Amino acid sequence: MRALVWHGKEDIRCDRVSDPEIQHPRDAIVKVTSCAICGSDLHLFHNFIPAMLPGDIMGHEMMGEVVEVGSGVNGRLKKGDRIVIPFTIICGECDQCKRGNFSVCERSNRNKRIADKVFGHTTAGLFGYTHLTGGYPGGQAEYVRVPFADTTHIKVPDILTDEQVLFLGDIFPTGWQAAAQCEIEPTDTVAIWGCGPVGQMAIRSAMLQGAKQVVAIDRVPERLTMAEAGGAITIDFEKESVVERLNDLSGGKGPEKCIDAIGLESHVSLSQADTVLDRAKQIMMLESDRPHVLREMIYVCRPAGTISIPGVYAGLSDKIPMGMAMNKGLTFRMGQTHVNRWSDDLLRRIEEGQIDPSFVITHKTSLEEGPEMYKVFRDKQDSCIKVVLKP
Ligand SMILES: NC(=O)c1ccc[n+]([C@@H]2O[C@H](COP(=O)([O-])OP(=O)(O)OC[C@H]3O[C@@H](n4cnc5c(N)ncnc54)[C@H](O)[C@@H]3O)[C@@H](O)[C@H]2O)c1
Ligand SMILES: [Zn+2]
Ligand SMILES: [Zn+2]
Repeated sequence: MRALVWHGKEDIRCDRVSDPEIQHPRDAIVKVTSCAICGSDLHLFHNFIPAMLPGDIMGHEMMGEVVEVGSGVNGRLKKGDRIVIPFTIICGECDQCKRGNFSVCERSNRNKRIADKVFGHTTAGLFGYTHLTGGYPGGQAEYVRVPFADTTHIKVPDILTDEQVLFLGDIFPTGWQAAAQCEIEPTDTVAIWGCGPVGQMAIRSAMLQGAKQVVAIDRVPERLTMAEAGGAITIDFEKESVVERLNDLSGGKGPEKCIDAIGLESHVSLSQADTVLDRAKQIMMLESDRPHVLREMIYVCRPAGTISIPGVYAGLSDKIPMGMAMNKGLTFRMGQTHVNRWSDDLLRRIEEGQIDPSFVITHKTSLEEGPEMYKVFRDKQDSCIKVVLKP
């Protein structure tokens, strides 16, 4: 089959590879009808996340048709079913899965022993991601093997298009969880850094969860325009002071809730001196992440407020003002998304027409175009916000 394969930093190719096969009774094989490129894939593209290996198949946002099931799937999934695949692989039986903490499933990471050493305790297996999370082949491919397929799926009805439901596997629940972690009150100002696909979903989610106002921050004009269309007030951080605007918009008190939808690759810009220092430290391997947004959020957040972090961090971040955060009594909530905790409710909201997540798609093309589309998405060429590939 054809698949997008990681060969090294900024080197992803569309290669011919072997078709996946059932390896375990709970596996299923899915023929991928649609897949997408995520901001998390860019961190792998730039080789910021450790433990990728040449030959790894990329992709963790995918859906398709079940073409084969193992003997242990026990009728919970059958040939011909149309499913979206959550990016977090879940056993459904461990203590964490039972609590709905799916992204920290204790059993789905086949490299658990390495993860236990590196993280202290393992987290879930993820598709198309680092070997610290199992190194499972991803879904930017014609076919994908789904481990624990009897629990790792979201069934979707035929009346909805791929584009409407594809994002149930990652960015929609990710934006939703980012807002839910804020426990939004009707009096809250929610500030969201980053208007990429995750930021866009967080904006819509915060509106649906009843925020008084949502303020979105970025510098890319078409992303700010899309944020406005979703109901947000916008700030272009290259043109105005984020801290001053946020204070103005919140009666001088700062936003109660702050969401980081950017993560470790905050833009490096001369107007933000700390980002230049972070970049230099990254090059010298003295720091893995560029946490400019965390610093800004801690500074501007209202005391007793909440900082919600869906943005991915890889390792070590310097100069996080913990004293400021502690004295202000801030609450931090973060994590990879517990996709299946939210997916039933979000599917219902799509069916009811409360939201159509396909609004974020700007580019649809073939799998062969994938390597080029990584660059187009990364560089925001051609007003690119979200790419869907059709294998
Ligand atoms: N927690 C999860 O489960 C989960 C799931 C999906 C994605 N993610 C993460 O979410 C983050 C966003 O993903 P995405 O697909 O939207 O990526 P993206 O790269 O398209 O979006 C990031 C946006 O942040 C903007 N930005 C950069 N620096 C900024 C700054 N200082 N201030 C304001 N805006 C700034 C960029 O212009 C861009 O629009 C990534 O870190 C990704 O890995 C996490
Ligand atoms: Zn993702
Ligand atoms: Zn589990």
